[in-house]
Amino acid sequence: MTLAEHPWPAGFIWGSATAAAQIEGAAHEEGKEDSIWDHFARIPGAVANGDTPEVAVDHYHHMPADVALMKELGLGSYRFSTSWARVKPGDRFVNQKGLAFYSRLVDELLGADILPWLTLYHWDLPQALEERGGWTNRDTAYRFADYAEAVYEALGDRVTHWTTFNEPLCSSLIAYTSGEHAPGLRDPRAGLAAAHHQHLGHGLAVERLRDLGAARGKTGASADQLGITLNLTTAVPNDPTDPVDVEAARRIDALWNRMYLEPIVLGAYPADLLQDVREYGLAELVQPGDLDLVSLPIDFLGVNHYHDDNVSGHPLLAASDHTRAGDHTGGTAAVIAAVTAEPAEPTSRPKRSPFVGSEYVTFPPRELTHTAMGWEVNPVGLQQLLVRLAAEYPGLPPLYITENGAAYDDEVSADGLIHDGERTEYIRSHIDAVGRAIADGVDVRGYFVWSLLDNFEWAWGYDKRFGIVRVDYKTQVRTVKDSGLAYARLIEAVRDRA
Ligand code: NOJ
Repeated sequence: MTLAEHPWPAGFIWGSATAAAQIEGAAHEEGKEDSIWDHFARIPGAVANGDTPEVAVDHYHHMPADVALMKELGLGSYRFSTSWARVKPGDRFVNQKGLAFYSRLVDELLGADILPWLTLYHWDLPQALEERGGWTNRDTAYRFADYAEAVYEALGDRVTHWTTFNEPLCSSLIAYTSGEHAPGLRDPRAGLAAAHHQHLGHGLAVERLRDLGAARGKTGASADQLGITLNLTTAVPNDPTDPVDVEAARRIDALWNRMYLEPIVLGAYPADLLQDVREYGLAELVQPGDLDLVSLPIDFLGVNHYHDDNVSGHPLLAASDHTRAGDHTGGTAAVIAAVTAEPAEPTSRPKRSPFVGSEYVTFPPRELTHTAMGWEVNPVGLQQLLVRLAAEYPGLPPLYITENGAAYDDEVSADGLIHDGERTEYIRSHIDAVGRAIADGVDVRGYFVWSLLDNFEWAWGYDKRFGIVRVDYKTQVRTVKDSGLAYARLIEAVRDRA
């Protein structure tokens, strides 16, 4: 079956995604102040090669041409984020010049018939707020709702699709517990506090945007679509008959998936998670009414997915496994470190986690290929995840794959083009998995490839290229890769069949 032949529902959205700190550059122009990523990148050793988001792919100055490129690819929607540090620097006042940039972007998108899909938080907290405790401070959740209001006041007349947070796992545990991401803390309590306060920020923002939308008469069929994006994976027990592996997978699933999903969709933290992390104060942070806010109804759930995880509760034994696990876990260091709460260096050795008591958590490699991040390529894992979500959470809102894609070490061929066959196949096989999940009855309504452009891959700097469009970082010239051309052909083929 070709991809176009899958039962894509009418109106299925084909898009691509980016994030402010990864593409915009102009880090200190027109009133933008430091975000935690600007600050973090200046710490020696924090980001590969000492790379910074200062210039990135200079989207701030290439925006109209970048939108023209999206149009050329036939994108139906563009998922981008607004930078809090640009809109409300230091949270002291609203920076109209910063908002004006996003207003021009939205106009440009609408003019090109591309649906703007706006994310309010993609990890770039104003540094000034970090200095007041960042997400460990409950007050930041309230500041977030004020920032959301400022963006809504400027764009709510034209933007209908709003995501509060992108992958709060990364901006809580990986930022405040494993230290891989800004602000680089290594404290189990801080990561859990950040997670709860981001949940709260989500709920407060949903409440605020609903009220603002109603005041503008955006109700009924014209109501805004509000949601959140989570990075969900399937934690597969390495040996499903081994209770030790099954238990390790349960713990990982609780910490990485269910801690983020269940407060939103069920209004409660999972009981097993609360038990697992009982020493670190999560339950004590929850104030009366918090979970009612966190679980306010949303209109969609964004799912970011790159790989699943093969989990064991045993140390890795074979020397060859250590090497291979190094390849694998090197790429997923961030996620593993979130469990282990230790510095990310040699990730091939088994680690102890403050959240998993004295148990080991290891990720034995399977006979699968890897991307340049070291992440295993296993498209059926995406289909299984979607089917499982639908089966286990019957009240779930419609799903959108808000990110999926792959980093590979691209080469520019003699013809000046980028024949990125591996990425093309990665995207093809994962779209196929989404089509199969839809055929299985899962309500998925869109797919966004990560990423439109090569960009600043956080702690990996510019080394890892995820774009379907290559960016020459010296000249800022954009060249559509073979994967981008293939994606454009797919979008066209699906449209032709509709
Ligand atoms: C998820 C994040 O949202 C995005 O910012 C990142 O670049 C991709 N994963 C790839 O790691």
